[in-house]
Amino acid sequence: MRGNFSYHNPTKLYFGEDALGYLKDEMGSYGKTVLLNYGSGSVKRNGIYDEVVKILKEAGKTIVENPGVMSNPTLEKLREGIKIARENKVDFIVSLGGGSVCDYSKGVAASVYYEGDCWELFWVKQRQPEAGQKIIPIGCILTMAGTGSEMNGGSVITDAATSMKLGHVFDERLMPKFAILNPRYTMTVPMEQMKAGIYDIMNHIMEQYFSDFDDNTSDYIAEGLMRSLIVSSRVAVKNPQDYEARSNIMWTATWALNTLIGCGKSEDWMVHMIGHSVGAWTHAPHGYCLAAVSMAYYKRAMKPGQAKFARFAKNVWGIDGEGKSEETLAAEGMEALKAWMTEIGLPLKISEIGGTAEMVEGITKTTVIYPAGYLDLKVDDIRAIIKESM
Ligand code: NZQ
Ligand code: ZN
Repeated sequence: MRGNFSYHNPTKLYFGEDALGYLKDEMGSYGKTVLLNYGSGSVKRNGIYDEVVKILKEAGKTIVENPGVMSNPTLEKLREGIKIARENKVDFIVSLGGGSVCDYSKGVAASVYYEGDCWELFWVKQRQPEAGQKIIPIGCILTMAGTGSEMNGGSVITDAATSMKLGHVFDERLMPKFAILNPRYTMTVPMEQMKAGIYDIMNHIMEQYFSDFDDNTSDYIAEGLMRSLIVSSRVAVKNPQDYEARSNIMWTATWALNTLIGCGKSEDWMVHMIGHSVGAWTHAPHGYCLAAVSMAYYKRAMKPGQAKFARFAKNVWGIDGEGKSEETLAAEGMEALKAWMTEIGLPLKISEIGGTAEMVEGITKTTVIYPAGYLDLKVDDIRAIIKESM
């Protein structure tokens, strides 16, 4: 392991079927007025909203509601939330939903006490809030497994006017103070979103794993997480009500992107950059956008990263390397990945998720590009990957 790093994760987790029981005690540490952010209604249909509101009331809180946080939250909706938070002088934000609501809540929390253009400063210029700027603390009650947003500083926002979907990793001041993870809540997630979440988790691990060649403990942890995810995903697609599988998936999602397995790694994230751009144009679930561009991307990364891809084949997919060249083994690993994606029903092409040939140029132009992982791609390479993925 050669990299230098610091590691500190301040988010306190409560995991399991009793996790919500800790909300009232946690809320005791914060002020009276709570902004409750949630999505388009799933939490009302499955009853989680009622449970949360009851506890917040018992804790003596005044609740300010902000419903309608959409999947892949927009800048317009973010500005609306900032306005509501300012007008009501909120002391704390409860994020009730999936990664979109949690990402959105961080955006609001960072921007309420910043008077300039938050989009420009945080997402375009990739800056952090000034030292000393007031930030509203957040708590996350997670209803969908995938992003890892519950234990990281990531916040992805889409400017619908320009089709720019940009992610920003805020520093630890914006990480949730606590996250409540009850796998039972994920049982009502539609099958399509569950599968999208599963591939999002897999790809988060791959984005960190497929970089560098040194022997790094982080990669061994990554391999274990991938193996657990593969096992549980196969169970969950057959029986989404399998608690054991759903809880393993939820726990894996958190560890896949809470910075631990990125320790000492240079990391990649270009599948995410291309996938975000595909998402801004197609509005398809995030994990599906990643799945649709993965084959064309990894085909290119496989040559310069051959040794690592061969290791992926052996240690993640259990492929016997006896008598095989590194090249053959690496290719077999990618085939195993593709077979698993097909088996659990993930899209392999952008056209399967609403993309059209007319979008190629637009998706290319809105992709953020940098040297990453084993590749140093240029605009023409991105265009070729998108065309090949259509
Ligand atoms: O709107 P609601 O009613 O909440 O419905 C949601 C939404 O339609 C539904 N859902 C969530 N929990 C449910 C449920 N439906 C029934 N029962 C439940 N228990 O599922 C749909 C998708 O939810 P969403 O929050 O959008 O999904 P996800 O958690 O995948 O979040 C996606 C967003 O996170 C960003 C993505 O780009 C995307 O904008 N990401 C954030 C990251 C981070 N913070 O580190 C990293 C990721 O790579 C990703 O980019
Ligand atoms: Zn992701």
